[in-house]
Amino acid sequence: MNTLLLDALRCQNTARPPVWLMRQAGRYMPEYRALRKKYSFLDLVHTPELATEVTLLPIDQLDVDAAILFSDILVVLEAMGLSIHFDENIGPIIDNPLTNAKNLEQLMTSNISESLAYVGKAIHLLKNTLKVPLLGFCGAPFTLASYMIEGKSSRDLRKTKQWMFNDPISFHQLLTKISQCTIEYLKLQIEAGADAIQIFDSWANYLGYAQFQEFSLKYLEQILIALKPFQVPMIIFCRGSSVFAPDLAKISPQAISLDWNCNISEIRRHIPTYIALQGNLDPDILHAPKAVIKQEAQRILQQMSADPGYIFNLGHGILPTVPFDHVKWLIECVKT
Ligand code: CP3
Repeated sequence: MNTLLLDALRCQNTARPPVWLMRQAGRYMPEYRALRKKYSFLDLVHTPELATEVTLLPIDQLDVDAAILFSDILVVLEAMGLSIHFDENIGPIIDNPLTNAKNLEQLMTSNISESLAYVGKAIHLLKNTLKVPLLGFCGAPFTLASYMIEGKSSRDLRKTKQWMFNDPISFHQLLTKISQCTIEYLKLQIEAGADAIQIFDSWANYLGYAQFQEFSLKYLEQILIALKPFQVPMIIFCRGSSVFAPDLAKISPQAISLDWNCNISEIRRHIPTYIALQGNLDPDILHAPKAVIKQEAQRILQQMSADPGYIFNLGHGILPTVPFDHVKWLIECVKT
């Protein structure tokens, strides 16, 4: 068993930094694109055998130090009664987005683990074969609320923020419902065998400082408190972590996954040494020439050398347009 990731999450890694990449199974990979000719994205996600096969692609082809379950943060919305489809050009679309506080009554908060049982099955299958730790994951309540309200990825989260400012009480009710379902969903993943969990707060960077505390951080903390008895390491990924990392540290996750806008050494000075740091490489670097990829990877590795709690990763997911051999090269650069 490769324990580099789990060692780093305990800030006790004395070997090289572990490396895995957000969206390490995706369209930049020829084998993934071939599978997508046969199956829709949601077919891959909903079928445990196929989700397992896709999860294993980057383990076999890149030799990364961790697997991340192939799924999507939006599956919880399906379990809560929203209907989702994926458009090739637009991305996820929610067919029945929330438009007013009355809609909250229709959201389902029971039987979450029954609806998402297929995720537990995929985790069981993976745990039988994997020699690296398996990450489970979920979306953060604020980010999931924004999808429920916007109905798709949005450039400004205008509807979400209007709801938040105009009717904070019902916005909190929504966040509470999402948090409850998320806790149940993460328990399912942990009981099925996930070795660590990453929470994705991809749209937190749209929030002002005070609103981040009230509408995001508070719910992240509730999730961490509820899952603490399981003693499974929790990583919080947050776009906006360049600003919010010291606040995230206050709720004591085992690791904070950084975007690429900050100087990681500078951030390290403000984060207690018992909290691991992950990420920080600009995902666009993977479009650059190999020499530049190596130079930028080495910059971060040098900054974090001798830090027993650093996990190499990008500041956000791999873009579908990057060449596969650039990704392979990056992993080689980190490992040598
Ligand atoms: O990291 C991994 O390899 C695990 C799989 C994973 C996916 N989505 C697969 C996926 C994870 C961890 C996610 C999380 C996710 N999904 C987030 C948070 C992370 C982030 O990127 O900010 C968000 C916001 C979503 C919602 C989502 N799903 C969007 C906006 C899109 C469309 C954009 C895109 O990249 O296509 C998806 C689709 C999606 N999720 C794909 C994959 C591999 C592409 C589907 C396809 O067309 O094959």
